[in-house]
Amino acid sequence: MRVETNTPLDKLLDGGIEDDAITNIYGPPGSGKTNITLSTALSVCNSSKKVVYIDTEGSFSVDRFEQLGGTDKEMKSILFLHVHSWEEQHKAFQGLEKLIDKNIGLIIVDSFVALYRLELDEKNFQHINKQLATQYSILSRITRTERIPVLVTNQVYSKGETIELTSRAIAKYWSKTLVELRKTEKENQRVAILRKHRSLPEGRTIEFLITKDGMKQVGKFSIL
Ligand SMILES: Nc1ncnc2c1ncn2[C@@H]1O[C@H](COP(=O)(O)OP(=O)(O)OP(=O)(O)O)[C@@H](O)[C@H]1O
Ligand SMILES: [Mg+2]
Repeated sequence: MRVETNTPLDKLLDGGIEDDAITNIYGPPGSGKTNITLSTALSVCNSSKKVVYIDTEGSFSVDRFEQLGGTDKEMKSILFLHVHSWEEQHKAFQGLEKLIDKNIGLIIVDSFVALYRLELDEKNFQHINKQLATQYSILSRITRTERIPVLVTNQVYSKGETIELTSRAIAKYWSKTLVELRKTEKENQRVAILRKHRSLPEGRTIEFLITKDGMKQVGKFSIL
């Protein structure tokens, strides 16, 4: 089953994100990752389900959520886990399974590796990478056994770091769907590229505009 994001990604993903897999949206700062998580959270709240929203950067904006159509009613359907350190993030994941019940219709992690990056150094990288993989494995178990879709974001910085490569390899292994977001030369216009999917062709793209009240497709949708 697919769960609508209520963004042009639904077209890219033939209806929305899968309910038994981790969907990973990655891209540079300002590419629209948080906007997509807010829209998807709203879409799930509107279907009378609850959302677990793990916010690692304090980037959930109530104002933006309201611009997209959210009200107090939907806000009450979101269970926020605000984490401020890698240790807190790891603890939140370890307690996640206890929070899951039939009313939960979506788990969001925005963003997955922000705190990881702050924690990682030359001495602890094996331990921290193991924790990262554990966190993904917890999400994977929940989505497969409970059929709750999981949507995570990853910010992409400069290329080349070994650190970067390790976390990306872990993310790629555990995420059944990868969507890359890129900025274009036009302000607020973005392109989403499907990089990995179990049943859809990789490389299909869709362009969209981030507007005050949501994300709208512009131009053609290229199906490969
Ligand atoms: N009200 C609005 N009207 C038009 N565009 C907006 C509005 N609010 C946000 N945006 C667009 O959304 C972008 C920010 O998107 P978002 O916060 O989703 O990015 P992100 O990928 O989560 O970035 P980061 O990695 O820094 O968290 C802004 O750069 C702007 O282009
Ligand atoms: Mg963000």
